[in-house]
Amino acid sequence: MALDLLDILVLVGLVLGSAYFFREKLFGKSDKTAITGLGKNAAKAGKTRNIIERMQQSDKNVMWFYGSQTGTAEDYASRLSKEAGARFGLKSMTGDLEEYDFENLDEVPEDTVLAFVLATYGEGEPTDNAVEFYEFITGDEPMFSKGESVEEKPLRNLKYIAFGLGNNTYEHYNSMVRRVDAALQKLGATRIGTAGEGDDGAGTMEEDFLSWKETMWEAYKNDVGLEEREAVYEPAFQIKEREDLTPESDSVYLGEPNSFHLEGNAKGLPFNAHNPFIAPIDSSKELFTTKDRNCLHMEINLKGSNLSYTTGDHVAVWPTNPGREVLRLLTVLGIAEKKDTVINVSPADSTAKVPFPTPTTYDAILRYHIEICAPVSRQFLAQLAPFAPSDEAKAKIELLGSDKDEFHKQVANQYFNIAQTLEAVAPGQIWKNIPFSLILEGLTKIQPRYYSISSSSHVQKDVVAITAVVESITVPGGTHVLKGVTTNYLLALKQKQHGEEDPEPNGLNYNLTGPRNRYDGVHVPVHIRHSNFKLPTDPTKPIIMIGPGTGVAPFRAFVQERAALAQEGQEVGKTILFFGCRKESEDFLYADEWKQYQEALGDNFKLITAFSRDGPKKVYVQHRLEEHAAEVDELLKKGAYFYVCGDAAHMAREVNTALGRIVAEQRGLTIQQGDEIVKRLRSSNLYQEDVWS
Ligand SMILES: Cc1cc2nc3c(=O)[nH]c(=O)nc-3n(C[C@H](O)[C@H](O)[C@H](O)COP(=O)(O)OP(=O)(O)OC[C@H]3O[C@@H](n4cnc5c(N)ncnc54)[C@H](O)[C@@H]3O)c2cc1C
Ligand SMILES: Cc1cc2nc3c(=O)[nH]c(=O)nc-3n(C[C@H](O)[C@H](O)[C@H](O)COP(=O)(O)O)c2cc1C
Ligand SMILES: *[C@@H]1O[C@H](CO)[C@@H](O)[C@H](O)[C@H]1NC(C)=O
Ligand SMILES: *[C@@H]1O[C@H](CO)[C@@H](O)[C@H](O)[C@H]1NC(C)=O
Ligand SMILES: *[C@@H]1O[C@H](CO)[C@@H](O)[C@H](O)[C@H]1NC(C)=O
Repeated sequence: MALDLLDILVLVGLVLGSAYFFREKLFGKSDKTAITGLGKNAAKAGKTRNIIERMQQSDKNVMWFYGSQTGTAEDYASRLSKEAGARFGLKSMTGDLEEYDFENLDEVPEDTVLAFVLATYGEGEPTDNAVEFYEFITGDEPMFSKGESVEEKPLRNLKYIAFGLGNNTYEHYNSMVRRVDAALQKLGATRIGTAGEGDDGAGTMEEDFLSWKETMWEAYKNDVGLEEREAVYEPAFQIKEREDLTPESDSVYLGEPNSFHLEGNAKGLPFNAHNPFIAPIDSSKELFTTKDRNCLHMEINLKGSNLSYTTGDHVAVWPTNPGREVLRLLTVLGIAEKKDTVINVSPADSTAKVPFPTPTTYDAILRYHIEICAPVSRQFLAQLAPFAPSDEAKAKIELLGSDKDEFHKQVANQYFNIAQTLEAVAPGQIWKNIPFSLILEGLTKIQPRYYSISSSSHVQKDVVAITAVVESITVPGGTHVLKGVTTNYLLALKQKQHGEEDPEPNGLNYNLTGPRNRYDGVHVPVHIRHSNFKLPTDPTKPIIMIGPGTGVAPFRAFVQERAALAQEGQEVGKTILFFGCRKESEDFLYADEWKQYQEALGDNFKLITAFSRDGPKKVYVQHRLEEHAAEVDELLKKGAYFYVCGDAAHMAREVNTALGRIVAEQRGLTIQQGDEIVKRLRSSNLYQEDVWS
């Protein structure tokens, strides 16, 4: 995945420039509640970027930094921080890497420990919020405040902890934690425990984390002499019901992401990752011909938002949770009756952040701000045990919290979310003793979902298209069906636009009109994320694109753009697209459009398809690529750009390997030499990937 450093720099600049204004306007002078849902930078603009000062101000001596894109690393950091307090009485807080400067790491007091929980992205790149830290710490000669050189071991007094999140199916497995750890070692810092690595690829992330953390605590106890005590639950948030307010009151947030949206003045801030634009959906349609799966094409209008995109960028969709699951959780927690009661949520401790604006309602929190449908964490179940409704339920949830195999059998493999898990542990019972604060602490903040824009900005500068396959997974051997939150929300919007009935028997029942009905009509909250996945600036350069399934999204944009350029009379280079799907008659995306593009581009466009289930034997894009080896290599020699996009890191790796082999065979080289050439293509940006999983 391409990281948009420039974007971050622009954003940081913007935010710093107007931070003071934002803070006053958003939170007022007396409201200390930080809002992570809105500009992280903006929210804490008043706070120092100096680590030591910040820790002293809040009387802490352990800081858990996270480098996180989709929230897992952030979640781990906050779990570690809570555990540090509950089990060992440590004075602990979490830190977003982008909110601090690291020049004075050489002056951190001896009784202080810093931890780094870091996810890896793209080609071994840092997450957006870790870019500056990463570049600083892994730089050749990081400049610390005392001016010591690397040889003098400037960080010799620093004690740190390190855990990485990665997926071994990517080439640069966990490279963030590995490189940061090596850099800290080189600078003389001392690590507590091992540098842990969690692996999404093997599906063992959570278990890797849990077992690493126990060895880390052991090392921490031995090195620093900690005393373990009986863990006591201390709520991170205070929940106060407000009898003086109703959901109709003007000051109550019903799901609005910030005060500008609340006041009906969303345009008071630029639209970005902290402030979504409520965009009208111009049109929507189904792309599959088969009834049992859905793939949506939607055209989202950005006019009037001042948002812009260029071909190859991503659009982020802000999801709403389905009403069915919101109600399920409210019910199992015993708060369904008071779902519209207005509450204030405030941090019990100055370092906790409330991830949404308040006053608000239970319903709004669970519907718009918290990831309630996601997989359940085993550790969280263990934390819920003391609040079980019966001894039997307590024993059962304790077992699930402590026994990995039982947990996998009864929870993970069933694809249960938290409410479904609580229902299954204690059928018919209400878990009314669980403090609502614990729910907020144990679940993560809802994350926007990214989609590769499938339209060309040259052709339609204000309207972005998306191509999204609707996630619907029937649990093996079960009757339960897992429904992806965002894609089913989009499906419901499409159905509304076409006046179709919800085909679901029970109905997921999304609230499509949004807070205060402000999404009425057919609207969806979005922002744009710029990427480096780009067409060559010179349209005569040849391009080779590999995009099976929805991986074709950005390539529809690429081909659309080149077809338009050709029609305008520009010279356009060879444009080859490898597309794959199951069956030509079922899920061949944009089958008719390619014919139009063919007309515009003539011989310069070639579409090569791989239908895996049309028989006689399975073929995938990488096989087709090898069949066209001579042509592919010829184009590479002419400076072709090579692109891979899709929802499987597995496919991307197969394609990478196939290309190395093609180059080797065509040029009479060894496989190793072929791979070397592919590596060089990557480093010179001629080989670009946009992959997700
Ligand atoms: C850079 C980028 C570009 C992308 N481009 C596209 C694109 O062009 N088209 C496209 O269709 N997608 C694209 N995606 C993927 C997209 O962002 C979403 O991840 C996808 O649409 C699913 O979102 P969802 O909210 O519907 O599903 P979610 O609710 O987020 O669920 C996603 C998956 O998580 C797992 N899961 C969720 N809940 C549970 C549970 N309780 N128990 C066990 N497992 C669970 C399941 O495997 C499920 O399928 C892209 C992703 C990235 C990062
Ligand atoms: C688009 C994408 C690219 C990724 N690239 C890598 C990679 O290069 N190396 C790696 O070890 N893990 C990679 N991963 C796995 C993530 O690091 C892992 O899923 C992690 O749990 C994400 O943490 P976060 O939720 O805090 O962002 C990638 C994941 C995605 C979705
Ligand atoms: C709109 O965007 C442009 C460029 O991105 C920027 O210079 C301009 O200030 C923005 N205008 C408003 C009203 O935000
Ligand atoms: C959606 O939420 C709004 C309040 O924010 C409410 O007025 C409306 O009735 C809800 N719609 C549905 C279908 O629940
Ligand atoms: C890790 O990569 C594999 C292989 O592409 C993929 O199937 C899997 O979903 C990824 N894991 C996660 C949890 O993202």
